[in-house]
Amino acid sequence: MLLKLSHISKRYQLGDITITALDDVSLQVDNGEFVAIMGPSGSGKSTFLQVASMLARPTAGVIRLKDKDVTRYNEVERAKLRNREIGFVFQQFNLLPRTSALDNVALPLVYANLPRQEHRRRSRNMLEQVGLADRLINTPAQLSGGQQQRVAIARALVNDPSLIFADEPTGNLDTVSGQEVIDLLKKLHSQGKTIIMVTHEEEIAGKAERLIRFLDGRIVDDAPTLQPPSSKKNN
Ligand SMILES: Nc1ncnc2c1ncn2[C@@H]1O[C@H](COP(=O)(O)OP(=O)(O)O)[C@@H](O)[C@H]1O
Ligand SMILES: [Mg+2]
Repeated sequence: MLLKLSHISKRYQLGDITITALDDVSLQVDNGEFVAIMGPSGSGKSTFLQVASMLARPTAGVIRLKDKDVTRYNEVERAKLRNREIGFVFQQFNLLPRTSALDNVALPLVYANLPRQEHRRRSRNMLEQVGLADRLINTPAQLSGGQQQRVAIARALVNDPSLIFADEPTGNLDTVSGQEVIDLLKKLHSQGKTIIMVTHEEEIAGKAERLIRFLDGRIVDDAPTLQPPSSKKNN
């Protein structure tokens, strides 16, 4: 068991109004799973990813990562844990604009106690893995949307996290670039990575092995997709 959420709720208070973004959500994700999340706008998908990735705190419930209760971690502990265990890919890429692909990918390594040369070596290696070996010194503006998202994926992977979250990673991409990004996520999954991805496209969700549907802050469906089973390892 990699990630276990038990009875998670997330409420936002806006003056007199309480918005329940997540309403008693429980779920377990094992090592090596590729999970897609779908649901209408406002159903709590992004909030779920933020809570599960320790970006946001739940109002109620328990989060266990690798069998450890991490619910009550303070900000410093959360930041450390995120840096070590979690990679996040955003719809808008969120790259630093005037910074090369290589330095964007190296960003999460600032907390790793490694020589600078090692930062470069690892970042170059990650960019090679996402097919951008020839774009190391380009800034985001010099890259296509699909290439920018692949830089963002390399950045999410550079610390070798246990879990990768992606919130509509193809949402800002044309069909062809979106396909490249999804193929890359599939490749990472086949290499053993655990991925939890929000998407609004059924076809993209079909590339995952398991599909969870949200409605009004709750999980209303959780089932395998109609995928030929991959060489999946269970541990
Ligand atoms: N920071 C926030 N403050 C107040 N309400 C929020 C906040 N973030 C999300 N919400 C509300 O929580 C609900 C779920 O939002 P979200 O998780 O972004 O849904 P989705 O990603 O499925 O579109 C929505 O009603 C949204 O307006
Ligand atoms: Mg969202």
